[in-house]
Amino acid sequence: MTVRKELLYSGAFGVKNRMQLIEQIRNQMSEKRLNHVLGVERMAIRLAKENGVALEQASIAALVHDYAKERSDSEMIQIIKEQKFDQDLLVFGNPIWHGIVGAYLIEHELGITDPEIIEAVKLHTTGAKKMSQLAKVIYVADYVEEGRDFPLVEEARKIAFENLDQAVAFETKHTLAYLVNKEVKIYPKTIETYNQWVAGQ
Ligand SMILES: [Fe+2]
Ligand SMILES: [Fe+2]
Repeated sequence: MTVRKELLYSGAFGVKNRMQLIEQIRNQMSEKRLNHVLGVERMAIRLAKENGVALEQASIAALVHDYAKERSDSEMIQIIKEQKFDQDLLVFGNPIWHGIVGAYLIEHELGITDPEIIEAVKLHTTGAKKMSQLAKVIYVADYVEEGRDFPLVEEARKIAFENLDQAVAFETKHTLAYLVNKEVKIYPKTIETYNQWVAGQ
């Protein structure tokens, strides 16, 4: 497994030590997923450089973005109910839940308080009508990191480095098309993202 060489944190975003954060993430997931997370971090840092996002903030958000991904459905359902999140979430599943539940867990278990990082984690599964540059970087990096392999990934990567907003649109359009083809339920937030970034521009 390749671990990025030490990236020194200033502490400006509430996390003092990257290696310590990686250890906390490692405890939450398989090695395969950790490799994905580290790939998202590398891509997020590259995209952050191009788009005026603080590299440290991009690094932290990338490292924690899938923090909740391997939690059980029952634990996620319990959190969605107890925290009174949108109860319509309950008819969806892990692919949607782990963003919203992850945003909650990184704050309550890891003590992350930076609102943009929390928002980026929350939105990474669905996108949103309004997204910060950081949220766009994480959303896109998750889709095009080097470990991803699907027919359109090369094109998506190219667009990611040309125009971040267009990369958000490309990802949203193709994710939605994929879900429609599978005839699965679409979380309304995904439609909102599509209306804004694909049909609205
Ligand atoms: Fe995810
Ligand atoms: Fe991910």
